[in-house]
Amino acid sequence: LTGCSGRNSNSEKEKKQYVIGFSQIGAESSWRERNTQSVLEAGKKANYKIIYENANQSQVEQIKDVRSFIASRVDLIILTPIVETGWRHVLEEAADANIPVVISDRLVSKEDAYLFKTFVGPDVPIQGIQTADFLKKKFKDAPAPINVVEIQGSVDASPAISRHEGLVEGLKDDPRFKIVASVHGDFMLSKGREAIKNVAKSHDLKQVDVIYCHNDDMADGVVSYLEETDIKPGRDITICSVDGQQSAIDLLKAGKINCVIECDPNMGEKLFQVVTAILDEKDVPKENFTTGRVFSEYSDLTNIEERGY
Ligand code: AHR
Repeated sequence: LTGCSGRNSNSEKEKKQYVIGFSQIGAESSWRERNTQSVLEAGKKANYKIIYENANQSQVEQIKDVRSFIASRVDLIILTPIVETGWRHVLEEAADANIPVVISDRLVSKEDAYLFKTFVGPDVPIQGIQTADFLKKKFKDAPAPINVVEIQGSVDASPAISRHEGLVEGLKDDPRFKIVASVHGDFMLSKGREAIKNVAKSHDLKQVDVIYCHNDDMADGVVSYLEETDIKPGRDITICSVDGQQSAIDLLKAGKINCVIECDPNMGEKLFQVVTAILDEKDVPKENFTTGRVFSEYSDLTNIEERGY
């Protein structure tokens, strides 16, 4: 019997330990590792039995993981979808089995939104807009063109799509900014480094004013590459990033990164409040956003707490 079907008596409900299947993307960044830890800790604290699967960056594996949760008749599935598309069939299978699905951190396509119960995670387009606001302040008096290179996350991943769209939206009223190259670095340090190295083959980085990285690990890779050249990251090229990992805050303090948009990975507690509400058959909002701050060269950086990721 599923806990959301209302078929359990009250006494059965009190005794029952609900089983939750959690399908995670992998461990591509320190952010992701912290996110996994946060979900597992919060689930345990709230007395759920968590079946955790890590798909190692493969959507095929993630779909298999979700199917195995359905086959084991879990009470609820938490899915962090690696990419936006390709979920329709497996989400329909969960719906047919009467198992509610909570989407966490990343999103599936809008067309499939009717197939999940609710979303818990960041309001990602805002992160691109916050980056644009920083850039407009930083380059207030600069002449056109202001050349931007973008190191995106993975193809078809919702934070890559939304961080790009947010930046474009935020810069649309300032035609001085020009995205001269936009490449993918899969949210990984090594691939971020590789991506900027490839851009340098076709673009003179001395003509580049800004490198916008969709996450801190890729920014780490970009900074480490630039440090092997005569271009000073943070001074000759403005570096922007997203996440708020300790490594990025340290680089910001050292003047090698100029702006970091915080994306809080500690969403476990909020996630399980929502999970509990669903299993208690209460109404939940379709979107439950976490919040994030902007850390930049204009911020007071003295009191930023140890990040833990
Ligand atoms: O989905 C969130 C993104 O995924 C984080 O910004 C990134 O670090 C992670 O890999």
